[in-house]
Amino acid sequence: MSPVFGTVLQVFHPNSPQARAIFDLGVEASVVFAAIFAIVAGIIVYALMRFRWCEGEADPHQFAGSRAAEITWTAIPCVIVVALFALTARTMNVSDPAPAPEPDLIVIGHQWWWEVRYPKSGVVTANEIHIPVGRALSVRLESTDVLHEFWVPQLARKMSAVPGHPNHIWIEADKPGTYLGVCSEFCGTEHAWMHFIVIAESQPDLEAWQRAQLRPAARPAGADARRGLAFFEQTSCVTCHSIKGIDDGARVAPDLTHFASRLQLGAGIAENTPGNLRRWLADPQQIKPGAKMPDFNLTDGQLTQLVDYFETLK
Ligand code: CUA
Repeated sequence: MSPVFGTVLQVFHPNSPQARAIFDLGVEASVVFAAIFAIVAGIIVYALMRFRWCEGEADPHQFAGSRAAEITWTAIPCVIVVALFALTARTMNVSDPAPAPEPDLIVIGHQWWWEVRYPKSGVVTANEIHIPVGRALSVRLESTDVLHEFWVPQLARKMSAVPGHPNHIWIEADKPGTYLGVCSEFCGTEHAWMHFIVIAESQPDLEAWQRAQLRPAARPAGADARRGLAFFEQTSCVTCHSIKGIDDGARVAPDLTHFASRLQLGAGIAENTPGNLRRWLADPQQIKPGAKMPDFNLTDGQLTQLVDYFETLK
């Protein structure tokens, strides 16, 4: 059972103006620091060799209180700090402009998954964010429990999701593609499996996705799937999971209305296939120990019905 997009974050391949500004600042700062290191280390090595202590030599010339020397070694660090400040301010201007009055996207951290809401269209999903190529979206970040940190290194800056204190970032992608994001602040047992993906696509593709996501869940046709739905409604699944058109309102766990359209399950821990879903339902704790979804001790028959039903949620 391998995760869909691996675990390697692409921190050296920025793919948006925001991420590129941050990456460029990193390169520029590294050049400055490398130059300082080379000069300081070079002078030390030179002094060690050139002025090695020898038997019988007098003390070197002392110049304590030299105004010229004091001014020089105060001015050089000042120039360096001011230059780094200017570079940083320029970067922040690109990577972190003021938020839009109304967010395009609200992302809410949960232990251990991400709730994704599009307030303008009403789409609700989980662990999978769709964005248009070439247009920056204003994202409001929230958390329902503890501190999380939203990070898609190729597309945006890193930002904390703080309970009771919304934060804002901008997210954008230059090219269509699928980008890996993670939670980058320790938030409990399954912190490492709070992956999400950002899918950047053309405006028509995004609109088609949006239309599909806004449809309520279809009533299943197959006998097993129908029994699966009935079982879903009778058990405590509905107290945590929403399925639009079936039961609405629960927001403790991921919205399942279009569960089968998503690429991964368990916040990136497995590819979303019927086989993996069956294993997940059989015992989530086996796959993601600590996950808030308990083991329901489902029978083989119940597993088949539920998997059949969830697979209809395209
Ligand atoms: Cu959420 Cu780490």
